[in-house]
Amino acid sequence: MGSFISSSILLLFLLFPTIIQHSKPAMSLPLSTNSRWIVDKEGRRVKLACVNWVSHLEPVVAEGLSKQPMDMIAKRIVTMGFNCVRFTWPLFLITNDSLASLTVRQSFQRLGLLESIAGIQSNNPSIIDVSLIKAYQAVVSSLGKNDVMVILDNHLSKPGWCCSNFDGNGFFGDQYFDPDLWITGLTRMATLFNGVTNVVGMSLRNELRGHKQNVNDWYRYMQKGAEAVHSANPDVLVILSGLSYDSDLSFIQNRPVQLSFSGKLVFEVHWYGFSDGQAWVTGNPNQVCGRVAKDMMRRSGFLVDQGYPLFVSEYGVDQRGTNVNDNRYLNCFLGVAAELDLDWALWTLVGSYYLREGVIGLNEYYGVLNYNWCETRNSSFIKRISALQSPFRGKQTYINLPSLHTIS
Ligand SMILES: *[C@@H]1O[C@H](CO)[C@@H](O)[C@H](O)[C@H]1NC(C)=O
Ligand SMILES: *[C@@H]1O[C@H](CO)[C@@H](O)[C@H](O)[C@H]1NC(C)=O
Repeated sequence: MGSFISSSILLLFLLFPTIIQHSKPAMSLPLSTNSRWIVDKEGRRVKLACVNWVSHLEPVVAEGLSKQPMDMIAKRIVTMGFNCVRFTWPLFLITNDSLASLTVRQSFQRLGLLESIAGIQSNNPSIIDVSLIKAYQAVVSSLGKNDVMVILDNHLSKPGWCCSNFDGNGFFGDQYFDPDLWITGLTRMATLFNGVTNVVGMSLRNELRGHKQNVNDWYRYMQKGAEAVHSANPDVLVILSGLSYDSDLSFIQNRPVQLSFSGKLVFEVHWYGFSDGQAWVTGNPNQVCGRVAKDMMRRSGFLVDQGYPLFVSEYGVDQRGTNVNDNRYLNCFLGVAAELDLDWALWTLVGSYYLREGVIGLNEYYGVLNYNWCETRNSSFIKRISALQSPFRGKQTYINLPSLHTIS
């Protein structure tokens, strides 16, 4: 079974060069869903090929703005072949007025990040004295000017690095995760971006987790959140994350989500090499790929067969190429993502952070940009994922590929 999966993946890689279509689809927004596909206003498939841009750490400012002008970053996102950004935000940005009204300068000052202030002053002077929420909007609008779609991702509540089981942000009822406040925040965010055409979707909450997580509360609050977002902004895709760090949506199999609207629901899943510990290093990579891919089908991949789009909203590797576990996982991931022709968002755009987990200027080896945000970190990595940036299948260009669907 496992070896069958691996050999079909291998076959697909050999086929890659012949099935890539390099035409950039001219899409008309808003997006909606048609069975498992995300489609534009004309009903043509739009494949989300996104990159995650972080704006949920303590400064609550999109990373990198002290290094490069936002317009340059947006243009680089486009030249790297991405058509969309999953743009993270902490709930308190929109529910805590004293945070939301801080200016960018004040936010860095309170953290003692004076070098970042100087950098922003020279690279993005227009945002240095505006409020954090206005700075967030400015980035969305800069992406819009460059035809980059945006998915607003509520990453956590309290600004900071994510995630652990004990950070108080994991599940409804945790210290910083009040369900009512979350609904209020989602409603405000959906309202704020109503009419902003390039905002095509909202990820309702990143990586649910921790000892409080349970299926009943998942339905109770996710359905409520979905309705709140849809009534405040009916144009956005409503994107729902699973349990256990967004690795598990198996419960949907027997209990569909009940919503008053249709054509807007998308599920998201996360999949990293480290999700399986060191399995890729210690095991035979073909066997591990077979086992892990089968497990992924059981936990989330089955959704495409049930007629829902599945958005792999986080995957990624150490781009120095030195992490063997990551390298082996990436081979497997690329095969599965191509075979199922999934929508996805790479982790991450970020070359370096202002401040992450107490470290100033942390270099992000999972980032497609280098430390100074001026060049790609590893062009051979971009080449590899470029195969996934165009649709293989879709309503009008259906190609029969060896299928994981028949394996159970
Ligand atoms: C609101 O934000 C301010 C500034 O970051 C912080 O000091 C305060 O604790 C926050 N309040 C709540 C209720 O989270
Ligand atoms: C880019 O990735 C490749 C493949 O993983 C690796 O061999 C190479 O050393 C990396 N280059 C840089 C500059 O990190």
